[in-house]
Amino acid sequence: MPINKNANMRLNFATLSAVDLKELLLTSDATIHTNLLQAARLKALKHFQNKIYIRGLIEFTNYCKNDCYYCGIRCSNTKAERYRLTKEEILACCRNGYELGFRTFVLQGGEDAYFSDKAMIAIISAIKTAHPDCAITLSIGERSLSSYKAMFAAGADRYLLRHETVTPSHYALLHPPTLSLANRLNCLENLKKIGYQVGTGFMVGSPFQTIDNLIEDLLFIRRFNPQMIGIGPFIPHHDTPFRDKNSGTLQQTLRLIAMLRLMLPKALIPATTALGTIDPCGREQGILAGANVVMPNLSPVMVRSKYSLYDNKICTGEEAAECINCLKERIRKIGYEIVVDRGDYRA
Ligand code: 5AD
Ligand code: FES
Repeated sequence: MPINKNANMRLNFATLSAVDLKELLLTSDATIHTNLLQAARLKALKHFQNKIYIRGLIEFTNYCKNDCYYCGIRCSNTKAERYRLTKEEILACCRNGYELGFRTFVLQGGEDAYFSDKAMIAIISAIKTAHPDCAITLSIGERSLSSYKAMFAAGADRYLLRHETVTPSHYALLHPPTLSLANRLNCLENLKKIGYQVGTGFMVGSPFQTIDNLIEDLLFIRRFNPQMIGIGPFIPHHDTPFRDKNSGTLQQTLRLIAMLRLMLPKALIPATTALGTIDPCGREQGILAGANVVMPNLSPVMVRSKYSLYDNKICTGEEAAECINCLKERIRKIGYEIVVDRGDYRA
């Protein structure tokens, strides 16, 4: 189908074919690009008004048993200075976050066996006892069905697990043979079945990624219909095998955010830290392309620079209060506002 320059808003993204998606993703027509972002922004405004949800990110361990080729905290990176936060330190982050208006805490970490089910349950229960009105999101990788069940029973509400790429051959170029796409997808199905609000996503411009890979990712996300979608540009880390690869681009990331917003109008889509890292106004531009979530860092400043997945990550020297004030101002300047709310998915 030839794409009408002015008709993006009339395209039905719930059914748009792979061929049409590819044409949109490939077009170098600036008018189509601008219209697409505009249509996505209007779609987000329709469902969420000018409200932006905040999630307080607590990076509680950078130990990881995995060796993903793109990631700065991969186990082979002996230069990474490893740390773990204690339960008390995590609770202190939550207290600080609660005061600042956060009602969702995202516990993110590497795949660290130290945080057994028992340890996670103790942390989740303690946060829920202290802050019963808050949502807990976990982002701690692949675990067993019984582990996911036990953490859900303890009070975890949501789970972020990016599929990274849904093309098996591409998956194998980004990950060591110990990891498989099949297992990743099985984890996502388990999480959904248990009742978590689930987030998935991928890196834009990851090494060896083709346009067809991206189209498969879009189709997968449309089928899987997650409550949350996290995408951000790949950015190389100097102590990984991908140190010499190029970053993903701002414009391609924005275009994909817009397409995802039009495909899944009610999804919670963050303007990610990686987007803010490749461009000083990346997060603002993400919001203007249809994103409706920001995830400022609540981790203690002492450990921030150690949670280094990629180079030049922003906000590593800032206190949580500074970041939230900075973001409030940035978001106000583009006509949006941060809300104090759990920001649950509404079907
Ligand atoms: N650049 C951008 N994003 C990265 N991630 C990991 N390494 C990088 C990198 N070098 C993303 C992955 C992971 C999420 C927590 O961070 O997609 O799922
Ligand atoms: Fe962290 Fe601006 S959001 S300093």
